[in-house]
This record gives sequence, structure tokens and C-alpha cells, in this order.
Amino acid sequence: MTHRHPLFARFYARTSLAMERGLATHRRTLLEGLSGRVIEVGAGNGLNFAHYPAAVTGILAVEPEPHLRSLAQANAKRAAAPVEVVDGVADRLPAEDASCDAAVASLVLCSVPDQATALAEMFRVVRPGGQLRFFEHVQAASPGRRRVQKALDATVYPFFGGGCHCARDTATAIERAGFTIDRIDRLGTAQTQVPFPAAPQILGVAVRP
Ligand SMILES: C[S@@+](CC[C@H](N)C(=O)[O-])C[C@H]1O[C@@H](n2cnc3c(N)ncnc32)[C@H](O)[C@@H]1O
Repeated sequence: MTHRHPLFARFYARTSLAMERGLATHRRTLLEGLSGRVIEVGAGNGLNFAHYPAAVTGILAVEPEPHLRSLAQANAKRAAAPVEVVDGVADRLPAEDASCDAAVASLVLCSVPDQATALAEMFRVVRPGGQLRFFEHVQAASPGRRRVQKALDATVYPFFGGGCHCARDTATAIERAGFTIDRIDRLGTAQTQVPFPAAPQILGVAVRP
């Protein structure tokens, strides 16, 4: 399985650390209250690991990009729970049906080739009653900004962003996959310090019925 984005991976490894000034607090909110076994999809360089609560007993961190995966492996020791970092992609998760208490998707549903397939996989591996925790940048509210985002998605954005898209309606995709959204906060640049077109963000909890 080849999923190399060497330039993007190095760029993200650096900029993501600077972005933590605005994002760390939201990562904590994303993960607070979780317990049991968690699968984190597209874990990147592992910036969520330090924020998992002690009640989490194990984290299966799936990351297809080799450079980011090796950084995630190094960051695994920052977690209170054991972290297993593995190669894999969102559309074929390396976990049994209903084997996880929760799935975590942060800044990854923008990058998967097909949101419906990735979310169907998360639905499959989360047990009934389990949760999907999400923190994702999504399409803008205003039609003008959405037009700009769509133009970027059709041209340079995925190329420079390791497959990232900025005009996705991720909340709708989560519901279409069968999850029920329990809580959703809409954040903007003022809250995250992340500028348009990678703003706004949605942060929330969805449940597998
Ligand atoms: C913007 S980074 C976010 C990393 C991390 N989740 C975070 O919150 O910092 C996007 C991540 O999605 C990963 N990714 C891209 N396509 C993927 C796919 N098809 N399946 C799983 N992960 C993928 C990338 O390798 C990268 O680590």
C-alpha cells in the first residue's frame, strides 16, 4: 500500500506544531470523556495522543503516510494508554466489526478519497452505542466562500494539501453514514486560529445507534 506525500508530510509535521496554539484546547474537547478501546483514523504525527483521558485503555492509530507514521510512533509514548500505530487507510480499517468503543476523526475526512466509504468503515468498527468523535474543517456558510473553496478543491488544494479538500459537507456525510449527531460546535478562525479556506471547523460527538 503506497500513500506517500513526502512534501506535505514534512510541511504538516512542522506547521501542525505551530497550529497547536489554536488547536490543542479543541483536541482536548474532542477526546474528553472517552473510554475503552479507540481507533484513530489518519492519526498524522500523533498530536492527539497526549490528550486521551486515562479511561481509554488502548488506541489503534491508523496512518498511511510513512513519515507521519514514524512521527506518530515516536509520539505514542505521550499517551496515557498503550498506542499501536499501524499502516492502513480509512476505507479499509484494520479492525473487526463492532470492536471499538469509539472512532476519532480529526482533520482527516477532508483528505480521504471518499467520505462515504471511510465513514461506513468507522460505522462498521464502532460498536452499537459507541461514538464517532470528529474535529474537521468543512465548507463555509456563505455561498461566495463556498465557491472559492470549490474552485480550490478542483485545482491546487488537494495537490498541495496531501489530498485535502476544503469544501466538504462533513456533518451531512456523518449522518448519511448512519451516525446520529449528539453534539456539534461550529468554530471559526477566532476560535482555532486556522484561516479560511481551512475554516470553519466542526467539533462534536456522533453515536452509532
Ligand atoms: C491534516 S492531517 C491530520 C492528522 C491528524 N489527524 C491531526 O489531527 O493532526 C491529515 C491526515 O490524514 C491522513 N490521510 C490521508 N488520506 C488518508 C486515508 N485515505 N486514510 C487514512 N488517513 C489518511 C494523512 O496521511 C494525514 O496524516
